Amino acid sequence: MQNLIASSVKYENGSLSVLDQYLLPHQQVWHQCHDVETMKELIISLKVRGAPLIGLSASLLVAYLAEQGVVKGELEKAINELEATRPTAVNLMHCMAALRKALTQSDYVAGIVTTAERLFIEDIALCERMASRGAELINSGDNILTHCNTGALATAGIGTALGVIYKAQQKYGNVHVWVDETRPLLQGGRLTAFELERWKIPYTLICDNMAASLMAAGKVDKIVVGADRIAANGDFANKVGTYNLAVLAYFHNIPFYVVAPITTLDTNTACGNDIEIEQRNPQEVRGVSGSFGEALWAPTNANVYNPAFDITPAKLVTGWVLDTGVYNQSQIENGDLVKLK
Ligand code: MRU
Repeated sequence: MQNLIASSVKYENGSLSVLDQYLLPHQQVWHQCHDVETMKELIISLKVRGAPLIGLSASLLVAYLAEQGVVKGELEKAINELEATRPTAVNLMHCMAALRKALTQSDYVAGIVTTAERLFIEDIALCERMASRGAELINSGDNILTHCNTGALATAGIGTALGVIYKAQQKYGNVHVWVDETRPLLQGGRLTAFELERWKIPYTLICDNMAASLMAAGKVDKIVVGADRIAANGDFANKVGTYNLAVLAYFHNIPFYVVAPITTLDTNTACGNDIEIEQRNPQEVRGVSGSFGEALWAPTNANVYNPAFDITPAKLVTGWVLDTGVYNQSQIENGDLVKLK
């Protein structure tokens, strides 16, 4: 397989490694990953995370195993096990379906390798297209609020929603970002802040419950977020807390955009209610952990509700920014998303 290098995953000279996103920003640790159990653990623990990146990392591992001579039956098992690591982001299923198809070719090793390479390279191009389309929606001097992490760390390219912000900053040089810290796992505070700093884009970190007062004060011009799965009717799943922002944006009349590649679109799922939402470990809400250690602030056995994602209904979305174009409410109602697949 050719060398493939992104911000948080690299296949280089026959070795696959991933950047530990749980330890960022204070420690930059790369893990080598050459077996299924290790990749499953990396994904489940969110060391490897972000909808496109999960699928791409899993695909690179399967391609590595194929090149190592792992037999067809074992490759199939690896694909099935990797696919089951996280249920909500459909990009993983998209990648695993492509690999399963490659496995039916007579030269399945070549098929798997070229498929993994294609998925990776395609993702870079998809990010570029989304970012260019999305940047058209941003005005000079905009204050843009975003949630979770949707940047280069989460993709092979420059990201989805954060890619739009990156392109807008390149264009105007004066955007400012409100970064939701994104409890419970702090992808905003840990990762988006890290990426914006690296890109030298001005930002201000806020706790998730501060967004309403900022909007009321007229300090938010646009909201851009990513997605883990977009249903046929335009409802979408994204990091828990996205729905809160959409409701607030609607109330305050602030444009709310979702940015995602075609690989996030699942037209087999009719609406948001049909999307499976991953439920995670209660410990993530009882306290916090990371490179700084561990803190537990709730009673040890506190009852916890911890969905990783929530559903934003289509009626709250101003525009769907895909690599194929920007879609509005009437296009979505017209079934334009379904026509894309
Ligand atoms: O649980 P995570 O960190 O994998 O969740 C990530 C998100 O919700 C992102 O917003 C989404 O994957 C889009 S990223 C390009």
